[in-house]
Amino acid sequence: MTSTSPTLEHKQLCEQLHYHCHRYYVLDDPEISDAEYDRLFQRLLELEKQLPELAVASSPSQRVGAPALDAFNSVEHRLPMLSLDNAFSDDELAAFDKRVADKLAGSYHYVCEPKYDGIAASLIYQRGELIQAATRGDGQRGEDITQNVKTINSVPLKLSGEHWPDLFEVRGEVYMPLKGFAELNQQALQNGQKTFVNPRNAAAGSLRQLDSKITANRPLEFCAYSVGFVEGAHFADSHSSALAKLKQWGFLISPLLKRVASIEQCLDYYRELEQQRAALAFDIDGIVYKIDEFELQQQLGFVSRAPRWAIARKFPAQEEITELKDVEFQVGRTGVVTPVAKLKPVFVGGVTVSNASLHNREEIERLGLKIGDSVVIRRAGDVIPKVVSAVANKRQSDARAIVFPEHCPACGSELQASDKEVAIRCQAGLSCPAQLKESLRHFASRDAMDIDGLGEKLLEQLVDTGLVKGIADLFKLEAWQLAGLERMGDKSANNLVAALEKAKHCQLERFIFALGIREVGQATSRNLVRHFASLDALAGASLDALCEVDDVGPIVAEHIVHFFAQEKNQQSIAALIEAGLSWQTPVSSDARGQSLDGQTWVLTGTLESMPRNDAKKLIQALGAKVSGSVSKNTDLLVAGPGAGSKLKKAQELGIETWDEQQFLAFIEQQR
Ligand code: IVH
Repeated sequence: MTSTSPTLEHKQLCEQLHYHCHRYYVLDDPEISDAEYDRLFQRLLELEKQLPELAVASSPSQRVGAPALDAFNSVEHRLPMLSLDNAFSDDELAAFDKRVADKLAGSYHYVCEPKYDGIAASLIYQRGELIQAATRGDGQRGEDITQNVKTINSVPLKLSGEHWPDLFEVRGEVYMPLKGFAELNQQALQNGQKTFVNPRNAAAGSLRQLDSKITANRPLEFCAYSVGFVEGAHFADSHSSALAKLKQWGFLISPLLKRVASIEQCLDYYRELEQQRAALAFDIDGIVYKIDEFELQQQLGFVSRAPRWAIARKFPAQEEITELKDVEFQVGRTGVVTPVAKLKPVFVGGVTVSNASLHNREEIERLGLKIGDSVVIRRAGDVIPKVVSAVANKRQSDARAIVFPEHCPACGSELQASDKEVAIRCQAGLSCPAQLKESLRHFASRDAMDIDGLGEKLLEQLVDTGLVKGIADLFKLEAWQLAGLERMGDKSANNLVAALEKAKHCQLERFIFALGIREVGQATSRNLVRHFASLDALAGASLDALCEVDDVGPIVAEHIVHFFAQEKNQQSIAALIEAGLSWQTPVSSDARGQSLDGQTWVLTGTLESMPRNDAKKLIQALGAKVSGSVSKNTDLLVAGPGAGSKLKKAQELGIETWDEQQFLAFIEQQR
């Protein structure tokens, strides 16, 4: 066996590690296991320990960081790092395009790209090796952050491919993906350290470390978005082809890039990305549009500190600062008391926000909040607005401490903290008006009993006037009582009474969901009905029996047993039955969960809950054919109101017939 020289082995290890690092961090498509990678890496470190001269600047070992610096050196940018003009509306973008069109003679293209919310960086490569990395600084001079940037795994230390210019600059954004950001903050919390306000601050803080070993442990990424100065081979005529080259050389290029030929397509791209924004793995704060053709970019030139060939279209900000005016304590359906921040209204993430949940006492302590503080509010996509932090240096001397109440703000009973959870609860159940209101709201909601016309304001009045003291009281309401309430006329009173009457005949799984048992959502309710088929069987089930149900673990089982064991809940259910509530027995178990392969169904009459065509698709999805006429081969007829000759014929032939309710119950059980 020939033994390889350490230098050759080191060279091969470097090549292998560069290759696998690129596959893992840039292409997201690893070829070897993490353990195998670590083994190669350890061998590299071992060789470099034996022969320190092997630890060259482009060695993968540089990714672990270097000895700490006293200060960053300042470096001059050969080409200034410019910023971008902003457009805040479609009109402003159209005006930009008009300026471009007026200056250019012929046609042109735009490249649309996400505007990464991180820190700009300039990377210089000589003969394919990273030799310097710098921050933007004031655009003319930045700080030398080479050691820190070397620790970023998606930055190639050595370029792949060939024909790169001798010396050239790549520009892009260093950012922290949301998952890494959440994990970093989680760790900080566990270690009692301060958390970062947002991924951009975390990225900036991580890059500004004098000790690059700290940066090495931060989940940073680098996405290349342009080329700066180039010495040597000219390698592209357009922005898109330059980025394609950078990709070949090993850089991470945004997968969301799009080259388009008109401003209309630019607008479409904005809307597409706006939709996707909340689901992306990283924060973006807008779109950047750049003229693709380099020659046209040159013709357009620059104005002061920004190019005339590019513009940023900003999304509505996801973070704003406003004042915490007060904290109120709300009592939820299960008695949990939640502090809610009352804010000076602020436009953030596309809506005006004046309330934000503060979750619990621990969260208030973690944020170190006081009433009167300036607070950072974040609302990303459809996500509920959140208080991210207090702006420490803006605190006024009259800021007040937030005092957690000892008694329920709705019923005055003493609040209790359980040692199993952080929540503080009011134990008064439905005798607490706040819990009663929330329970009624849940009971009547669309996915539960779906009672139309029982809005929040009305529920408030019903409880506050004492007309409703328990859920069953809803079904005793008479139109004349309702008509006397604020904002209710005879018509709405009659409609509500009719809706309540209709709701009396319900599906068991909706009723179980409507009861509001802790942690029993729609899916669990459905599974419980499939398993137990009746309310009595469910109410009498043991912990073990409950744990046999899909999705039900010991905690949920305990909540269910606890719920049915409580006398007030038994009374509440008895009162509902007494008031006339009844539910359909579920479709027999042999029809359940079965495929309808080989069956032929017929639909007739009008269905109220969905168009006939949708019903047809649902049946077909379960495997049955849907025929237009009844014959002896028909297995089942679904007949809505207005059914005529087909229903008659089915009855004559003795074919099973379902009404719409039975059909819906069946479909829900198949889900
Ligand atoms: S191009 C002259 N492209 O946005 C062109 N910038 O105000 C300058 N940014 O500091 C930059 N994503 O750090 C460009 N796809 C992208 C970008 C992007 C984020 C940042 C960049 C710069 C700021 C511009």
